[in-house]
Amino acid sequence: MTLRGSHPLVSGTTANAPLIAAMTGRTPSRRPVWFMRQAGRSLPEYRELRAGTDMIASCLDPAMASEITLQPVRRHDVDAGIFFSDIVVPLQLAGLDVTIKPGVGPVFGEPINTPEQVAALPRLDAAALNPIREAVRLTVAELGSTPLIGFAGAPFTLAAYMVEGKPSRDHLGPRRLMHADPETWAGLADWAADISGAFLKAQIEAGASAGQLFDSWGGSLSPADYRRYVLPSSTRALAPVKELGVPLVHFGVGTGELLADMNRAGNTVMGVDYRVPLDEAEARLGGGVPLQGNIDPALLGAGWDALREHTIDVLARGAAAPGHVVNLGHGVPPDADPEVLTRLVEFIHSVPVGADPR
Ligand code: CP3
Repeated sequence: MTLRGSHPLVSGTTANAPLIAAMTGRTPSRRPVWFMRQAGRSLPEYRELRAGTDMIASCLDPAMASEITLQPVRRHDVDAGIFFSDIVVPLQLAGLDVTIKPGVGPVFGEPINTPEQVAALPRLDAAALNPIREAVRLTVAELGSTPLIGFAGAPFTLAAYMVEGKPSRDHLGPRRLMHADPETWAGLADWAADISGAFLKAQIEAGASAGQLFDSWGGSLSPADYRRYVLPSSTRALAPVKELGVPLVHFGVGTGELLADMNRAGNTVMGVDYRVPLDEAEARLGGGVPLQGNIDPALLGAGWDALREHTIDVLARGAAAPGHVVNLGHGVPPDADPEVLTRLVEFIHSVPVGADPR
């Protein structure tokens, strides 16, 4: 499979955008920056548009999902849009009983963790992804030369929600299941991988110029468990997307010990959370991998001087990698001041490419 000639990356519309240049190890015209969770509750225009509409319903309304994706691009002048959706949206489209509870996260009608339940998991009908494709097309038409990043949840993170039926801190359920019943675990992880791969692929084919796999809860795994029970399914999720040739980021939280293993899943860029300095991440990866990250979200609320000093340190350490996409080390907190984000983007863009920011 290849992308259509009209795809923005193939036609050249986004091929030389700063984000794509940095992700592919070329010199960008300015330092590219975007923020995980840049769309959402930190923006008053988001809260206004979303008022009265359920989270998943808003993701399945192409005009609304597109407008929410565009809001932070207009406001902050970031170098990418991140498609507004959620990692559990394709699970709902496959027919699972899942909702997103405000202030809590994904909640399932019942946990899915028995061999019988795993064997009975539904197939995702390709046409079910049409509202996603439509929202991406609307968004890409508006974004012009600014790339859209598509995303999906990694199989472990999706399976962690399914097995527990709700958010959990230690992910004991899925970690227990992989050892107690490796076959059921593998069936579940493969199912989640196929859903993730299809969701991400639909976004890329409809016009997203890059992708990101979020393994938000991978940090609860030991390296040995990651390699044995999780890496194969993350590789499976990325495989159908990898062949399309777009840059792919692989990101997890608390995954400093897993960076080198995660980097074997088929991604081209590693996302680094705020716990591991970028030069240290570069060393752990053995060099040669473009990096994304990793301003500590806590610093957004710590005053401009502290944020500026921390950002300069992040930019300086990021210079160790062949490409650096500036981002936070996890998502924008809901109480972040949008004006701080706008000022931060302006500051990052003001530091000349290749110059020592200190
Ligand atoms: O701007 C963006 O980053 C794009 C959209 C996006 C959302 N969720 C929107 C959203 C993305 C990329 C996600 C991914 C996602 N969803 C992840 C991986 C990233 C991460 O944060 O680690 C995870 C773990 C989820 C599951 C999920 N969905 C959680 C934990 C929550 C928060 C629950 C809460 O209210 O505290 C959600 C809901 C969600 N997804 C919101 C948004 C904007 C908030 C919903 C609202 O405004 O009511």
